[in-house]
Amino acid sequence: MIITIDGPAAAGKGTLAASLAKEFNLAYFDTGMVYRAVGLEMLLNGYELTDNEKAEKFAEQLTFPRMMELSKNPEFRSLNGSRAASAVAAMPKVRQALLEMQQNFSHNPVFADGSKADGAIYDGRDTGTVICPHADIKFFITASPEVRAMRRFKEYQEKGQDVDYKEVLEQTIARDKNDFARAGSQPAADAIHFDTSDLSISEVFEQVCKIIVEKQKTLEK
Ligand code: DC
Repeated sequence: MIITIDGPAAAGKGTLAASLAKEFNLAYFDTGMVYRAVGLEMLLNGYELTDNEKAEKFAEQLTFPRMMELSKNPEFRSLNGSRAASAVAAMPKVRQALLEMQQNFSHNPVFADGSKADGAIYDGRDTGTVICPHADIKFFITASPEVRAMRRFKEYQEKGQDVDYKEVLEQTIARDKNDFARAGSQPAADAIHFDTSDLSISEVFEQVCKIIVEKQKTLEK
């Protein structure tokens, strides 16, 4: 079974996807990591985030092990890292270069330890439209920019990063513009929508689980 979870930054996709992967014993692919990896390569090598050619090269060369290695860098999920990821994610050739790697995972999903899985949960923008248009279930998770910015702000604070809420809100709005300006970034027509502004993660989790269990029954028939 392939499940995709799309939606804007900080909508709660990651937490939900990771919990679902555990609950249904599925492999988990956080697709934002591919853009974070390319963005971080640009930062580490001192290239301008407007240098499309360099970003394309890093995207073409990216491997799973390299992505995992980069993910250990504290900048990977920092405000700077997020900005870099959003910039490279807006480059069509970078997206194209990273497409195959993301799609291959659905044909051969594996857990973090490399063992084979029966299916995968994809988390990220365009997973239900471009990466896995044939997914069995597609969710679109959203929340207001203010709620999402507050969640990110708290995450940064917990990591001891000194950031300003206003700056995080501005970045959330800027990233929405950047991320949604591209083709393929709209929700899939057959996606099930959830607005998490007024729902707790556990409430969303429960509702989503019910939908998946129902779907599993129809797939088993
Ligand atoms: O989900 P995240 O914050 O880790 O994503 C990092 C950036 O990559 C963010 O700007 C959105 C972008 N992204 C994307 O364009 N397509 C995806 N499938 C996943 C993430």
